[in-house]
Amino acid sequence: MLGWCKLALTQKNLRKLFILNCLLITAEAFLLMHAPDAILKSSDSALHTLMKSSELADGMSKLFHYSKNGETVEGFLIRYQGKVYAYVNLCPHAYEPIVLGSQSAFNSDKRYIVCREHFAMFNPETGVCVSGPCPIADLVKIDVLEQDGTIFLVL
Ligand code: FES
Repeated sequence: MLGWCKLALTQKNLRKLFILNCLLITAEAFLLMHAPDAILKSSDSALHTLMKSSELADGMSKLFHYSKNGETVEGFLIRYQGKVYAYVNLCPHAYEPIVLGSQSAFNSDKRYIVCREHFAMFNPETGVCVSGPCPIADLVKIDVLEQDGTIFLVL
């Protein structure tokens, strides 16, 4: 009888361990799908100087380039209500650049980022599409940090 109880407990514990393991695998898969940069950042983050804070006044935008996984990525910085944000310079509608040359990323009243191709509009703080032909995709955010009068790219 005692031997049978030990076996039952062992099977019960194994089932608990199996369920716990499944939960951990699911949580890890979720994190990899939804926050891969955050996971990488915790072990590998590095700061790269982009420009002085004084070079990006409120309502302005500027292009920059960086290398990721051997490929050159074009991004653009904006300063919106005092804070700096950065996005990959590709519109999720037809993959045209949001910013060309020295043109502004903002619409005329500087409340939204606007794509000049078909006029999709995006929230400057989140990159979420708020109007126009981009119903299921948003801008891809790039991590930046402003510190001691300098804007850094966080890779
Ligand atoms: S490419 Fe940007 S709205 Fe069409």
